[in-house]
Amino acid sequence: MKKLLAVVTAGVLLASLGAACTKTDTNGGATSGSLKTIGVAIYKFEDTFVIGVRNSISDEAKGKVKVEIVDSQNAQPIQNDKVDQFISKKVNALAINPVDRTVAGILIDKAKAANIPVVFFNREPLPEDMKKWDKVYYVGAKAEESGTMSGQIIADYWKSHPEADRNHDGILQYAMIKGEPGHQDAETRTQYSIKAIEDAGIKVEKVAEDTAMWVRVKAQEKMAEFLSAKGDAIEAVLANNDDMALGAIDALKAAGYFKNNKFMPVVGVDATAPAVQALKDGTLVGTVLNNAKFQGMAILELANVLAEGEIPTKENTGYDIVDNQYVWISYKKVTKENINDVE
Ligand code: GAL
Ligand code: CA
Repeated sequence: MKKLLAVVTAGVLLASLGAACTKTDTNGGATSGSLKTIGVAIYKFEDTFVIGVRNSISDEAKGKVKVEIVDSQNAQPIQNDKVDQFISKKVNALAINPVDRTVAGILIDKAKAANIPVVFFNREPLPEDMKKWDKVYYVGAKAEESGTMSGQIIADYWKSHPEADRNHDGILQYAMIKGEPGHQDAETRTQYSIKAIEDAGIKVEKVAEDTAMWVRVKAQEKMAEFLSAKGDAIEAVLANNDDMALGAIDALKAAGYFKNNKFMPVVGVDATAPAVQALKDGTLVGTVLNNAKFQGMAILELANVLAEGEIPTKENTGYDIVDNQYVWISYKKVTKENINDVE
């Protein structure tokens, strides 16, 4: 039904825009055969969660639209160049995972000048930048939701494991491993995870906090530092993503945890495959599904509709377009109990 609708609307569009479309097709634009082209710029190819989004975009594009996916190598100047290249190739739509979400306005200006619609994802542009143009969209997940859920997982664990209060002071002493500073998922997950623990009636005390930039080995190093500085004073570890939770677990294992009754509750976010394995192994107590597959599908769907020259609506995309610009994909709490839901 959705497909049929897309075909019908595209047909109407072709008929009404006739000359303009033919011109794009024949003047060296990126349109290949009858398929439109979407230029996709990823902030960094080796990010575990974003790999999932990228794979979903490619899968969803098959037979529908051509996608050209490039690596911005975690450098905004490289991403700006890649976007310039897409624009000079006249791609029909852009899908951008910004390196620095606070300068998305620059990319919006470029896209607007070339009249190429943009779907941002994973790193949310500032509201004032989103307002610069009505052909700008964002597909993502609400950071508060994942923060709250990860905090609730730790709160539930704490309540059902009185022995977790190792120093018997009635206070949960925690270490926080944060993602990249300034990223909505780092700042907001940190804030809301602690809020959820407090809202569950638990007193908290932060004993260590630092950023590990979403990266497993960096988190391993941080956790090793925390352990040598604070040792047994840490009673729980919250990480803004699974890669960092797994890095913390690596360091904890090296320090003798997860054997001989020595345990540390660690929570992450994303529900990546290695994290789900850690849940099964009993090292990670919980994570929050950041749905890479659904996000990729929504990004592709919106970009495809835009590439066809249409305005995305619930009818032609299947998604609620909140405030005419946002598509939100829900998070989900994952623990050993409901692990089958994510496999
Ligand atoms: C977050 C995700 C992290 C990391 C980051 C990159 O949503 O939880 O693991 O991928 O995006 O921007
Ligand atoms: Ca305590």
